[in-house]
Amino acid sequence: IYEQPVVVAQTLRAYLRRMENEVAMPDMDFDLGAVKRITIVACGTSFYAGMVAKYWFETFARVPVDIDVASEFRYRNTPLFRNSLFFVISQSGETIDTLAGLREAKRKGYKVLAVNNVVGSSIAREADGGIYQHVGPEIGVASTKAFTSQLLIGAMLALYLGRLRDMSFSDGTEYVRALKGVPDLVRRTLEQAPHIKEIAKRYAHYHDFLFLGRLSLFPVALEGALKLKEISYIHAEGYPAAEMKHGPIALISEQCPSVFFVPAGDMFNKIVSSMQEIKARKGRIIAVATTNCELPPGLADDIIRIPECHEAVLPIVATIPVQLLSYYIAVELQRDVDKPR
Ligand code: M6R
Repeated sequence: IYEQPVVVAQTLRAYLRRMENEVAMPDMDFDLGAVKRITIVACGTSFYAGMVAKYWFETFARVPVDIDVASEFRYRNTPLFRNSLFFVISQSGETIDTLAGLREAKRKGYKVLAVNNVVGSSIAREADGGIYQHVGPEIGVASTKAFTSQLLIGAMLALYLGRLRDMSFSDGTEYVRALKGVPDLVRRTLEQAPHIKEIAKRYAHYHDFLFLGRLSLFPVALEGALKLKEISYIHAEGYPAAEMKHGPIALISEQCPSVFFVPAGDMFNKIVSSMQEIKARKGRIIAVATTNCELPPGLADDIIRIPECHEAVLPIVATIPVQLLSYYIAVELQRDVDKPR
């Protein structure tokens, strides 16, 4: 977790062409400018990175994206579109379902681009083009720095594809400025650790959690829930915040806290109204909120502040508090965070 400011800087250094304010992608034997559609396939945390990438590719590059978990994709005879790029994400490069998905796509004549952290892995060898994460070995079972660097590569790829299409020079420049700021944003967010540790001590005895976010922060909610399950063995679910009222709201009580992602912006009032629904049912709330949004007094029981930032980097910054929260809850429960079940 604490390596992240350094490793995201490494990932940036590998692909950001500073002078030209552009992203430089490694040589590939296909033309990214001709891509009309993208299909992303991955598993687990890498799949959630893909969900965020889908949001960015569609928002900033205006390329439609389909996404599937690899274990489903490989057995479903999904129709693929011509001129579509097949995109796999795998930290290890050895996840068998992802590899099988890649092989299935290649068999059908598609070009495959892989985001991968392990040089020379099976997925790296079999893909038509690869983007290495350059973050070093992910020692523990739980993916942390690998996830944030997958996000960063997704954000850079969205910029690259966007600039090949209709993203303006000035929007591109602003985007690059945001990317360059990521190591510092991550460092500043990590400074919240003592505060998050105190919160974790107060919440470690709960048996159920909800993680709620909207748009690009919905996959971060899924990732927060997965991290908590994986290392502390506490039951947790991630939902799009507004979907909560279509069923999961039945779970809300004093016994089931919710972690809400609350950025300033268009969704702010809607997220506040979801939080009010939780409060009305006596649910406790931990808000992960950007510094520029003012929450109604008393709505959140605990607030973890994250720096205000560009939409293209917000999911990276918002991931840090939920990694720390899971970590400190697991430590409080005396779980072995490096070798979970
Ligand atoms: O190596 P991969 O990225 O292909 O692994 C996929 C998942 O098994 C992995 O992300 C898993 O969900 C993480 N250990 C969760 O922290």
